[in-house]
Amino acid sequence: MANDVDTVAYEVRDNIAWVRFNRPDKRNAMSPTLNRTMMQVLDELEFREDVGVLVLTGEGSAWTAGMDLKEYFRESEGEGLKGVRRSQRESYGWWRRLRWYQKPTIAMVNGWCFGGGYGPLFACDLAFAANESKFGLSEINWGILPGGGATKVAVELLPFRKAMYHAMLGEPIDGKTAADWGLVNESLPLADLEARVTEVAKKLLEKNPVALKATKDAVRRVGVMTYDDAEDYLVRAQEAANSYDPEGRKEGIRQFIDEKSYKPGLGAYDK
Ligand code: ACO
Repeated sequence: MANDVDTVAYEVRDNIAWVRFNRPDKRNAMSPTLNRTMMQVLDELEFREDVGVLVLTGEGSAWTAGMDLKEYFRESEGEGLKGVRRSQRESYGWWRRLRWYQKPTIAMVNGWCFGGGYGPLFACDLAFAANESKFGLSEINWGILPGGGATKVAVELLPFRKAMYHAMLGEPIDGKTAADWGLVNESLPLADLEARVTEVAKKLLEKNPVALKATKDAVRRVGVMTYDDAEDYLVRAQEAANSYDPEGRKEGIRQFIDEKSYKPGLGAYDK
């Protein structure tokens, strides 16, 4: 099924939702309209039975060139504080929604990724980039600090010296360097990118979806906890997951111990 909604396009194929920033003429810069549309698309897809994984990619040569300097900054500021805060709410809102999305998410970075683009980049659970893509905290180049969470993303994902250099110099890095630095999981030729992302998405589709949601939230949550808090949180998160999926892990044990039909060390049980 395909459905084009202006600034965002999406289609669902084989249980994978392919969502695209869709302003190629503007290098997929995030305008207020795009931000509002993206929230609607995420709403539409989140609990659909036929969606198991969401991939976020870009139409044309960009993933996203960051915030739209004209529509997001200049025109929102033209409306005063009310316009600025509304535009911030709309963009931060869908990034937050994506960070805690029900389904696993993959950023498939096909081209330019600048500034505000680091918000959705970090919001996606996994990220794969084309060698040809370019990443940059370009804010410093036009006279602001990397806001909207971008500095936080750099500090979360990069070692201190690299984060500082990246933020202060505003020099773009290519996909391979982004992978070396840890901004993305892997970088590969653009021609191979979709096949690799499809392969990873299919592996995710084999896993227990309740366990996947609990796992991705746990990885994001425990970083700021003490060891004891994390231990306690993880016990409780699993017990909460059990109430949504009382039989899943028992079946996983049964197929290994009794049926001997798979090995958990090597792959997933048959859901
Ligand atoms: N905001 C608004 N318009 C943009 C943006 C943007 N972030 N990025 C590109 N565009 C527009 C251009 O103004 C141009 O519009 P026009 O055709 O009406 O003149 C069109 O998209 C194409 O842009 P070009 O610069 O011609 O494309 P090119 O492929 O040569 O370069 C690049 C691509 C490198 C991404 C360049 O457009 C660029 O530097 N964009 C700004 C990147 C940036 O710094 N983004 C803001 C980050 S900071 C933040 O997000 C908070």
